[in-house]
Amino acid sequence: MNLEFYLTCTNCNKKYDIKVKYWRCPSCNSPLEVNLEYPKIDNFPSIVNKNEFNIWRYKLLPFFENRISLGEGLTPIIKHRKDGLEIDFKLEYIMPTSSFKDRGSTVSITRAKSLNVEKIVEDSSGNAGVSYSAYSAIAKLKSRIYVPKDAPIAKITLMKMCGTEVIECETREEASKRAIFELKENELYVGHIWDPFFIEGMKTEIYELFEFRNLNYDSIIIPVSSGTHILGIYKGLKDLMNMGFINHIPRLYAVQAGGCTPIYDNYYNVRWSGEEGLLADGLRVKNPPRLKMIIKAIRDTNGDILVVGNSEIISALKYLYRLGLIVEPTSATAYAAFERLKQKIGKKILIPLTGSGMKTIDKIISIK
Ligand SMILES: Cc1ncc(COP(=O)(O)O)c(C=O)c1O
Ligand SMILES: [Zn+2]
Repeated sequence: MNLEFYLTCTNCNKKYDIKVKYWRCPSCNSPLEVNLEYPKIDNFPSIVNKNEFNIWRYKLLPFFENRISLGEGLTPIIKHRKDGLEIDFKLEYIMPTSSFKDRGSTVSITRAKSLNVEKIVEDSSGNAGVSYSAYSAIAKLKSRIYVPKDAPIAKITLMKMCGTEVIECETREEASKRAIFELKENELYVGHIWDPFFIEGMKTEIYELFEFRNLNYDSIIIPVSSGTHILGIYKGLKDLMNMGFINHIPRLYAVQAGGCTPIYDNYYNVRWSGEEGLLADGLRVKNPPRLKMIIKAIRDTNGDILVVGNSEIISALKYLYRLGLIVEPTSATAYAAFERLKQKIGKKILIPLTGSGMKTIDKIISIK
């Protein structure tokens, strides 16, 4: 299958070749998006390579040659019943680096490698950094990653062990700014909060659900920071709709943690106030570049955005651990939101569990 991919600006609609090194639109500085002419196919298996046991089994990905893969994807589902509702937990933390980020990294690093750069540069609150570190290590690309200095020690340590140069910054925002500002010749900025290729990987979570389940969810609940996950899920659903495989899109519920609520504040045009949710160390992007797109995805699907605090996160975490689901506090926010939403979100719910508790033991250890 010969597919034609290109980049489009999400604001001014300018079109660019897929092989450019831009990380945002050079004309208006807005985020870019990968697009393709959808193939005319009448059965889903024709876009699946059944011999590949990673996300590249789906042929609707750019830079299909010379892939940098660690066998990511095909994550398990655990079924759970609660108060008469059916929950599918998708264990996105069962991944090479223990978070859903590996779906994005395999595509972003494959693309970076194809551009013959020496070094990639990223900013991250932790998980994306660990993931990029592992993928750049196997790609034999150097990496420099800017992190907030209070990121979980396990996440910082794992990045260093993979050979990454880690720059510790005062805050998450400083990490984003310095990553871009200190970029040098022959380095490629692949910051996942901007990189359109990262979202391409995310959409495979939906393809997977379609291939192995029937995707008849009423709602999906997703922790949101920069929005790569929710936007990948939305994109995957739209792809399936565009190709005529589904005719219903579940409602998308976004969850943020108290203390970092840019999407909530914009959506409701208020300043959030309430209990802090700092235990969710992965949810701290204060200026998501794709904010407008995230709000559109929530509105288009009749979803909503809510904010949870530490006490709800702790209860959710304890509940999940007793189901044997060893997740990190950031991932527990989705279950905390479920507890609040359960009267009004339908009967079949998908909750992706995004990251492993093993990397956040320093945060979990203080929970009583
Ligand atoms: C475990 C976990 N869940 C969810 C998110 C939010 O993902 P996104 O930035 O794609 O919105 C993050 C981000 O770092 C994370 O680490
Ligand atoms: Zn533009």
